[in-house]
Amino acid sequence: MLEGKTVVLGVTGGIAAYKAADIASKLVQSGATVEVIMTESAQKFITPLTFRAITGRPAVTSMWEMTGEFSIEHISLAEAADIVLIAPATANTIARLACGLADDMLASTVLATRAPVIIAPAMNCNMYENTVTQENIQKLECRGFTFVGPETGRLACGTEGRGRLAATEAILSTVHMVLGRNGDLAGKTIVVTAGGTREPVDPVRYIGNRSSGKMGYALALAARDRGATVKLISTIDLPDTTGMDVFRVGTAGEMLTVVKEAVKGADALIMAAAVADFRPSQVAADKIKKDSISPYLKLEPTADILSEIQGDFIRVGFAAESRDLIENAKKKLAAKNLDLIVANDVTATGSGFGADTNKVTLLFKDGRIEDLPLMSKREVGEAIIDWMANGIE
Ligand code: CTP
Repeated sequence: MLEGKTVVLGVTGGIAAYKAADIASKLVQSGATVEVIMTESAQKFITPLTFRAITGRPAVTSMWEMTGEFSIEHISLAEAADIVLIAPATANTIARLACGLADDMLASTVLATRAPVIIAPAMNCNMYENTVTQENIQKLECRGFTFVGPETGRLACGTEGRGRLAATEAILSTVHMVLGRNGDLAGKTIVVTAGGTREPVDPVRYIGNRSSGKMGYALALAARDRGATVKLISTIDLPDTTGMDVFRVGTAGEMLTVVKEAVKGADALIMAAAVADFRPSQVAADKIKKDSISPYLKLEPTADILSEIQGDFIRVGFAAESRDLIENAKKKLAAKNLDLIVANDVTATGSGFGADTNKVTLLFKDGRIEDLPLMSKREVGEAIIDWMANGIE
């Protein structure tokens, strides 16, 4: 997904420098050309050879070495970059960048580039929390730099605190997000729901379903990485939601209220959530004891969110079925007046709840039916967002 993109990866001198090898490797696997620039102190922690082996290109280690092309490197790398990622970034490098110094190859490249810059700090927690570091970060944020992490956890110095390099997945996700900022959905707002609703029975129990939220999450990421403003309404905590507005809900009723508000001015609503059709008509205030209960629960219907929320925006539903897939999906497409319904047989291998892959059939309003092969949920998300991007003016 990063084919044709050049990522300049700046590696600075902290113990987390070894993690930059994994980041470089994942970027290469995604198709990017990765040009590594190492500060002098980074070379005390990891060798240029490691990056050369991973990226297939020499790591730049000094301002004064000449490349085969005899180019003035800090200008050529600054110009070649589609994005500059500094991971890990020490307090010292952040301070140098905030001051606009150009005292080594990395700082010069950052000063000379017009590409977006992402910084993934890693340092001792006291250094991170120090006012001067915070001021430097704010300064850079004001200039449009994007920060990812650091995370809270055990640090190399033995203490616990905020200063750990963000996880590789979060860093890569930020790269995709920033590169997609001016994508074909820039300026559009897409509302996505994810996960299964939970209808309380008493303070301990609920009626739920097996939805993992992965499909909704994949859609939200795919939309975000093409520049859309994403409002993700989820019943579960999802791993990395950088750059999205996330709303946590529990019940179908709560989801209805939040979706109603979120679709105001939106361009699309994708209901990937598995919404309860019934809820207990009364929620017991105390835990229901086994000797005090009849085995019957009285239920009442919930509102159908998709049917209730109509409007001048694209509306997409999902049909999770265990039989008569196409027939049932067609009925829902018509009954809920949708532009697209994504039908999936939740009993098929590698498909449906909890899986990382999905086998779906797309049924469009105009009667067209498209059967997609078994794909990762992210790829299914891309396919739906692709169709959406073509339909949104
Ligand atoms: N949906 C909704 N509100 C509900 C129930 C479902 O908005 N109360 C949405 C789902 O998010 C999904 C689509 O409607 O996008 C179809 O959901 P599904 O559970 O497959 O169908 P139902 O309409 O609930 O019908 P049934 O349970 O009988 O299959």
